[in-house]
Amino acid sequence: MNLFLDTANIEEIKKVKDLGLLDGITTNPSIISKAGRKFTEVIKEIAALVDGPVSAEVISSNYDGMIKEGVELSQIAENVVVKVPLTMEGLKAVNEFTNRGISTNVTLCFSANQALLAAKAGASFISPFLGRLDDIGHDGLELISEIRAMYDNYGYETQILAASIRHPIHFKEVALRGADCSTLPYSVFAQLFQHPLTDIGLQKFIEDSKSINW
Ligand code: G3P
Repeated sequence: MNLFLDTANIEEIKKVKDLGLLDGITTNPSIISKAGRKFTEVIKEIAALVDGPVSAEVISSNYDGMIKEGVELSQIAENVVVKVPLTMEGLKAVNEFTNRGISTNVTLCFSANQALLAAKAGASFISPFLGRLDDIGHDGLELISEIRAMYDNYGYETQILAASIRHPIHFKEVALRGADCSTLPYSVFAQLFQHPLTDIGLQKFIEDSKSINW
């Protein structure tokens, strides 16, 4: 499974890249606004830093605006993926981007039907938001299984990019359910390394190693 970071924070991106574990980046308008920098500049810097796909989201919600912004974003670097909301106008734009050979990530997906429409429009990635579904008492993880089954039934190549991941159990479960990629906030990524038995075991090895003659 490909591991993406859901951030525009350059320090976080560098840390995960240095570990050799980074496959791509996702951003959204809330993440970009937190970065407090010019949108196109921050995307340019991230795209140069990361080898894999970098999702940058359009701001317009009408077709013409999305096409104009998406084309501009796609010209920043080859690995920029244009992120588009799951609306009628959005999927019309995805169709056009697909015709023009521009990669897309369809965001704000909360149902399997929405995911099927995005695949039909030719989306490169679909982003189901697990945590936000859980927040309103729905089963976010079940959505991943449904989309996997639906895409496999028809051979759609749209990659399932599990988003709105809130904790390590989400990460494990989306991998078990066949998501192609998972995008994590840095805090959740760091949690994946943690296990109390690892800490206890390492402490004991460090103690015992003091009597080893190298
Ligand atoms: O980038 C999309 C998604 O990961 C947002 O997550 O935590 O704001 O629901 P969240």
